Amino acid sequence: MTKTMASFPAGGTAVVVGATGGIGGALVQALRQQPGFSQVVALSRAGTPPLDLTDEASIAAAAAAAALGTPPLRLVVDATGMLHAAGQMPERSWRQLDPAQMARSFALNAIGPALLMKHFLPLLPREGKAVFATLSARVGSIGDNRLGGWYSYRAAKAALNQLVHTAAIELARQRPAAICVALHPGTVASALSAPFAKAGLEVRPAEVAAAELLAVLEALGTASSGGFLDQHGAVIPW
Ligand SMILES: NC(=O)c1ccc[n+]([C@@H]2O[C@H](COP(=O)([O-])OP(=O)(O)OC[C@H]3O[C@@H](n4cnc5c(N)ncnc54)[C@H](OP(=O)(O)O)[C@@H]3O)[C@@H](O)[C@H]2O)c1
Repeated sequence: MTKTMASFPAGGTAVVVGATGGIGGALVQALRQQPGFSQVVALSRAGTPPLDLTDEASIAAAAAAAALGTPPLRLVVDATGMLHAAGQMPERSWRQLDPAQMARSFALNAIGPALLMKHFLPLLPREGKAVFATLSARVGSIGDNRLGGWYSYRAAKAALNQLVHTAAIELARQRPAAICVALHPGTVASALSAPFAKAGLEVRPAEVAAAELLAVLEALGTASSGGFLDQHGAVIPW
C-alpha cells in the first residue's frame, strides 16, 4: 500500500474518471485504502450517473453529482484514454492517417479531458491542497519522439499536455493551492497496452502503477502545477 497521503487535507473526496479501465480500477482500489479520503467516487460510462467523454452534458451531470453533498473534492484523477478501438490501430505511417480516426483520438484523448477540466476544476476548494491529474503518455512528448508512428495518439496527448498547462495558469489565479498536472503512468498491463505487450513490450501490473501514481500525487507541490511528469515524479520534456 502507498504511504498515507497526508499532504491532502483529511476527509476529502477523491474522484476517479475511467474507473472501469486497468489503471483507473487499480486507482479506485488503492484510494479506498487511503484513510485520508472519506470517500472515493468511481465514474465511468457504465456508472451511475454515466460519464461519456463525448457527451458534455453527461460530464457536467457526473461532476455535479460527485460534488453534491460530499466533502470537498481534493483529488480528481482522469484515467480515461484511447490508443486503439474496433477497426482502429495506431498509425505506423502517414499513409494510414484517417480523418475520422484522428478526430476520435482527439475527442477521447484531448477534448474529453479538457471538458473534465472545465467541469471539475471549478469544484476544487479555494483553500488547501487539491489536485486534478490526467493520464497522458510519454509518447505525447515531442522532445522525446525518436521512433515516430502513432500519429493521432501522440498528437492528441501533446494537445492534452498543452490544455493541462493552460488550465493550470488559470487555476493558479483562482485557487493558488490547487494543482493541475499530466502524468505518464509507465507501461502498464491493460486492455490499452495488450496488443503491444504481445509484441514484446514489458508491462507492469496496474496495482504497481496506481501505487506509484499516488506517491507522485502525494509529493506534488504547486511548483509542479501545469507540468508533465512520469510515474516517478520526473519531469518529461514537452
Ligand atoms: N497502459 C499503458 O501502458 C499506458 C501507457 C501510457 C499512458 N497510458 C494512459 O493511461 C490512461 C489509462 O489507460 P489504461 O491502460 O488504464 O487503459 P484502459 O484499460 O483501456 O482504460 C481506458 C478507460 O478509458 C475509458 N473510456 C474510453 N472511452 C471513453 C468515453 N467515451 N467516455 C468515458 N470513458 C471512456 C474506458 O471506459 P470503458 O470501460 O467504458 O471503455 C476505460 O475506463 C490512458 O489515458 C492511457 O493513454 C497508459
